[in-house]
Amino acid sequence: MKIGVVQFKPELFQAKENVRKALEISNNFDGDLLIFPELAFTGYLFNSSDELEKVSEYNAMTIEKWQEFSSEKDCAVIFGYPEKFMKKFYNSSVMILPNGAIKVYRKTHLFSEEKRLFQSGNTGFFVENFKGVNIGLAICFDWFFPESFRTLALLGADIIAHSANLVMPYCQGANIYSSIQNRVYIATANRWGKDKNDEKELCFTGESQITSPSGEIIAKAPKDGNIIIEADIDPMFSRDKRLNAFNDVLKDRKPNFYRLSQ
Ligand code: ACM
Repeated sequence: MKIGVVQFKPELFQAKENVRKALEISNNFDGDLLIFPELAFTGYLFNSSDELEKVSEYNAMTIEKWQEFSSEKDCAVIFGYPEKFMKKFYNSSVMILPNGAIKVYRKTHLFSEEKRLFQSGNTGFFVENFKGVNIGLAICFDWFFPESFRTLALLGADIIAHSANLVMPYCQGANIYSSIQNRVYIATANRWGKDKNDEKELCFTGESQITSPSGEIIAKAPKDGNIIIEADIDPMFSRDKRLNAFNDVLKDRKPNFYRLSQ
């Protein structure tokens, strides 16, 4: 499977124009799976639920446009968006399949002020098979909790599609070890540049990255710039959990000695 990770900078609130620009960038992509950042086409730095309400009006249009793209290109597409459900907002990512089907993941671990505007995700982690590859979804700060990627690995994920708006400098380095510990591909689609809203400003770290089950960085973007990085995914590699002749990273776990709650 050939995957593409899109590093992208949306203009805050400009959902329609951001989708147009992202479709233009993606037009020449000829792979099987395209992954975009968290809140990919709306921007991130919202100050109120009224602002979220306004941008969420573009969700249906955004999903429809990418359904057309997915069906034309026979390519699954994943992106983050502010999902409105039963009058509440979730920081979600959606996986769109070429037959029009959609699967939604709601961010489990909210970061910082996201807690003021979004509900914690209630979908839990899952994997979806597409073209013989098991794809797991995660969003940004989920990386900080090793349980997230471990759970996806235990569910059989070959690749973790990690849509992000990273502001701290640790994730890209940590993902090398998460890939090794779980023997799984991790594709982090990060955004770059700044969001400014009233007095507030946030800077995002770029350097989108794809790591292999042995922890190699197989594709990496620079700090700045809209760019698609690509890699080939071999599910036989991620399904071989042997670290050496004696160790299997999943079978060697000792759950009897692990605590699941405080
Ligand atoms: C983050 O979870 N957007 C840092």
